Amino acid sequence: MDTTSTALPAHPYLGLWVTADGRIRHELRADGRYVEARGDREAAYVGRYEVDGDHIDYRDDTGFTADGDFRDDVLHHAGMVLHRRKVVLVTGASSGIGRATAVRLAAAGHSVVLGARRTDRLDAVVTEIEEAGGTAMAVPLDVTEIASVQGFATAALRRFGRIDVLVANAGVMPLSPLASGLVDEWDRMIDVNVRGLLHSITATLPAMLAQGTGHVVTIASVGAYDVSPTAAVYCGTKFAARAITEGLRLESPRGIRVTTVSPGVTESELASTITDASAAAAMDVYRAESISADAIARAVLYAVAERPDVDVNEIVVRPTAQR
Ligand SMILES: NC(=O)c1ccc[n+]([C@@H]2O[C@H](COP(=O)([O-])OP(=O)(O)OC[C@H]3O[C@@H](n4cnc5c(N)ncnc54)[C@H](OP(=O)(O)O)[C@@H]3O)[C@@H](O)[C@H]2O)c1
Repeated sequence: MDTTSTALPAHPYLGLWVTADGRIRHELRADGRYVEARGDREAAYVGRYEVDGDHIDYRDDTGFTADGDFRDDVLHHAGMVLHRRKVVLVTGASSGIGRATAVRLAAAGHSVVLGARRTDRLDAVVTEIEEAGGTAMAVPLDVTEIASVQGFATAALRRFGRIDVLVANAGVMPLSPLASGLVDEWDRMIDVNVRGLLHSITATLPAMLAQGTGHVVTIASVGAYDVSPTAAVYCGTKFAARAITEGLRLESPRGIRVTTVSPGVTESELASTITDASAAAAMDVYRAESISADAIARAVLYAVAERPDVDVNEIVVRPTAQR
């Protein structure tokens, strides 16, 4: 339907809202159209909005009227709670959990910015998301380099104007016993899993603080709770990731939410970085029962989709069979 609108108010909240389960989208377009999409069905109406402070009144050409209020960045409208589309940055989005998280959050209506070193992989994920009707962009990222991480955040701000969620997911796990002396591999785990997390937080937190809202989701591990042989350094990095994330929660003002998601054995490429033969053999047994990366993505979406006054701080997701 061709539509027009009068007196489209310049309200900062105009944009796309999605219901928490991602099924229904309501979009206030810059040309004044109101587009409502429910699954495959889409309709556009001639609408007129009047915004007074945090209150919004709507009337369209069918005679339908509705009103709602913005509270804490959420539009409460006609008995529904509609979440504003978020700009979500995912580090390590080229495979495994990061990839699954980007795909799932995009399917829920959010704009996703994917970072990793293998940009051909990122481009393929962006194409997949766009073909499904989502919004995504790929940015080359090495979380061990602060300039690269700053560039990642800057690219997101240039395209979308804000950063709502950081999913700090990039990680490596070359396991080995301490006696193996694989110092370079330990350094790499510390560089990616700890310094990379700190770089990601420091590159995105200023935008969140300036907005007054934001959400940092750290992908830690069950290894952030328990240590196992060959995993002393890896678990050390994940204990650190959990501690850093909790420290951020304690230091942050209201409006900044902080979540640590800790996966158990999950399908991904993570074990491929192991070079120590004994650790690799032990992993073959340990990783025999795994859950899909999407199981972790669903946990991330749950935390992101919660109301702004609810801060989901820690989630542990394991295969039912894992002990
Ligand atoms: N799978 C599990 O069982 C499991 C369990 C507990 C916790 N985790 C955690 O989940 C997170 C995701 O791992 P995954 O299981 O999905 O493994 P994965 O498939 O190997 O994915 C790891 C991701 O990290 C990225 N990455 C590695 N080094 C990077 C760097 N320097 N800069 C930017 N990105 C980098 C990789 O991309 P590029 O190589 O393209 O840069 C890749 O996208 C990790 O933090 C891991 O510790 C996984």
